[in-house]
Amino acid sequence: MATVLAIETSCDETAVAIVKNRKVYSSIVASQIPVHQQYGGVVPEVASRQHLETINEAIAQALEQAQLDWGKIDAIAATCAPGLVGALLVGLTAAKTLAMVHNKPFLGVHHLEGHIYATYLSESTLNPPFLSLLVSGGHTSLIYVKDCGNYETLGQTRDDAAGEAFDKVARLLKLGYPGGPMIDKLAQEGNPQAFALPEGKVSLPGGGFHRYDTSFSGLKTAVLRLVQQLEKDGGQVPVADVAASFQETVARSLTKRAIACALDYGLDTIAVGGGVAANSGLRKNLQVAAVEHNLRVLFPPLKFCTDNAAMIGCAASDHLSCGHTSPITLGVESRLALTQVMKLYHPVE
Ligand code: KG4
Ligand code: ZN
Repeated sequence: MATVLAIETSCDETAVAIVKNRKVYSSIVASQIPVHQQYGGVVPEVASRQHLETINEAIAQALEQAQLDWGKIDAIAATCAPGLVGALLVGLTAAKTLAMVHNKPFLGVHHLEGHIYATYLSESTLNPPFLSLLVSGGHTSLIYVKDCGNYETLGQTRDDAAGEAFDKVARLLKLGYPGGPMIDKLAQEGNPQAFALPEGKVSLPGGGFHRYDTSFSGLKTAVLRLVQQLEKDGGQVPVADVAASFQETVARSLTKRAIACALDYGLDTIAVGGGVAANSGLRKNLQVAAVEHNLRVLFPPLKFCTDNAAMIGCAASDHLSCGHTSPITLGVESRLALTQVMKLYHPVE
């Protein structure tokens, strides 16, 4: 099994990790959240500059924490898609340079594949096939994981991603950025049944509703209208109740779709990944439903739900064991479907 040094800079965390298969030797995450907080969201140019300033130190720390030198590293990997182009370029360029200088194989990794592999870091027995519920700031999908690099998208959001909905609702409740953790915390003190909110169903052309696709923009608008109405009525907005009701609606919507999908496709395990996998409401809802339907639901530990490089290293390590490496000319892409992931690697004879 190969030891991989992996870099993740697709958004607002500068992360470096050293991983061997499913074992994490070190995982450094330098969060830029305090820098972006003053702008109320991620500013791409600021993110790139921060990555540049932090990356060398993060690499040095990862090696030091793992107590390894370059001689013990077998390959270098970096997230190359999807994400903020300027941010991705910093990590990818660093990884390619290190691979050339130290004469090691290089691998580009799809960020969402990394989120799928985050579950492997704590579940040594998990192997495909299984259903992945990916819920991050930019994506919400149900993925049939068939094998390393072999994915089928079964459901997705038609508009906002789940994390994006959390961030937007947090902004309108004036809770700051990033919104997910703030809403989650506040929701603990609120009543999730206080307000009935629309779940956001996706209509099918011939009538009825899509069983796996989600839509969160209507829910966000419903929260906005509710807050406006409560303000108009003159009373104080019960922010904790609004947060709890919103969180419950998102959790119910995702749970219903993930369970239906797993049952329809005969998959007995649902692995959840992405920042929203940290959400306590989603964890509770899915766990209860999974028990009812005799399914296994797995969540990565909280530190591997949000962006980190250990998950990228774990994915790279698996690709390497399948004989996959990337051309050193590989570029970054702001968008790339998970089904296109094999585009990142040399064809295997
Ligand atoms: O996976 P991630 O770190 O970055 C992306 O790839 O997008 O996900 C970040 C998203 C943000 O929208 C953040 O608000 C959300 O995950 N998030 C949460 C929680 N922790 C992070 N959403 C709900 N509850 C949480 N506890
Ligand atoms: Zn992510």
